[in-house]
Amino acid sequence: MGFTMGLNLLLLLAMVATNLLSLYHLSSTLQSPKPPTPTQSPVPDHLLHQLRTIRATITHLARHHPSATSSTTKPSAVSVPQDLLLHSHLSPIASSCHNHPDLLHRYMNYTPFSLCPHDTDIQETLILNGCHPLPRRRCFSKTPPKTPSSLPLNPFPTSLPDASVIWSKYNCKSFLCLSQSNPNLGFDLRKQRETLVTYSSELDLPIPQFMQLANSANSVIRLGIDIGGGTGTFAAVMKEDHNVTVVTTTMNINAPYNEAVALRGLVPLHVPLQQRLPAFDGAVDLVRCGRAVNRWIPAAVLEFMLYDVDRVLRGGGYFWVDRFFSKRVDLEKVYGPLIGKLGYKKVKWAVANKTDSSGLKNGEVYLTALLQKPVSK
Ligand SMILES: *[C@@H]1O[C@H](CO)[C@@H](O)[C@H](O)[C@H]1NC(C)=O
Ligand SMILES: *[C@@H]1O[C@H](CO)[C@@H](O)[C@H](O)[C@H]1NC(C)=O
Repeated sequence: MGFTMGLNLLLLLAMVATNLLSLYHLSSTLQSPKPPTPTQSPVPDHLLHQLRTIRATITHLARHHPSATSSTTKPSAVSVPQDLLLHSHLSPIASSCHNHPDLLHRYMNYTPFSLCPHDTDIQETLILNGCHPLPRRRCFSKTPPKTPSSLPLNPFPTSLPDASVIWSKYNCKSFLCLSQSNPNLGFDLRKQRETLVTYSSELDLPIPQFMQLANSANSVIRLGIDIGGGTGTFAAVMKEDHNVTVVTTTMNINAPYNEAVALRGLVPLHVPLQQRLPAFDGAVDLVRCGRAVNRWIPAAVLEFMLYDVDRVLRGGGYFWVDRFFSKRVDLEKVYGPLIGKLGYKKVKWAVANKTDSSGLKNGEVYLTALLQKPVSK
């Protein structure tokens, strides 16, 4: 009884604290984001305020639960850890929605218990700007008017059912249109499969070859995450050919990628690149990232991502970088050393010129690498 009351009090306090935080951020004046030069720049007021509020809440909670936390809480005047400051610049902690109050208001402006507005574009914009997880809503998400007569049972069906998608926000109105408009979108499932299992240049690591490498290193591959995996074809091949379970993080940028992955009977995770991976430490055997991870991601964001990949990989697991592109000089000076700091074994490391027009113009290269996490640090 006493425990339950204590727990309720704790939850209440946490709720009040969260609401105070959001109120503060919704009412605070907007500041333009500053470039990430955290070690030199002074700590902005709103960040200090936020950190003080978080600390005050924790102290408050600790007073009500002395037994649980007294041994770990330190007295006041604790300095702010450098990485907390740095990360707060990249992706403000517990407050990433506050830079977009107008969008957030539009997103939450709906009639409870009725049909939600069809605003997937607002949701994606908020998520991509770090407002994730989005607040839940109490309304019914719009569903397609018809259901298809049957759903595909294997991940390489001859076609995906168009009736399972609400097409109003897209230029294309069918999966056939998407697969014909641009082969690089990944909606030509058979063609994309070919690129994943065949070797045509040193930048290729065909899936059968990867499985052989892992096998000969006595490393069993059962679970994986494909970051920015588009239509999920990597997960599809791993499932069909090797019985490996791979979840795919994917966003609906200009096409219904999440729907496509789900229609293939695979798991789509609607999470942005900057989010902490939704898996526990050491839980997976493989993390792969394709072209979605590239030089357009700020180096500091990429660095936090690499260490999060390391966190979810088990010892002996693999990190697979497929066609990461950057300027050649940046690969040598920035990204190569960044990856090197992980201390992984380089099973494969291939660099080649990116020969399309923007690649030639910017002196860009592709990197394909297979790296193995050491068993112990
Ligand atoms: C996958 O698992 C099924 C059921 O256990 C088995 O019949 C099949 O041979 C396996 N396929 C591969 C490629 O290992
Ligand atoms: C790659 O591009 C660089 C210039 O950016 C050039 O010097 C080099 O010869 C190219 N390598 C190949 C293999 O084409």
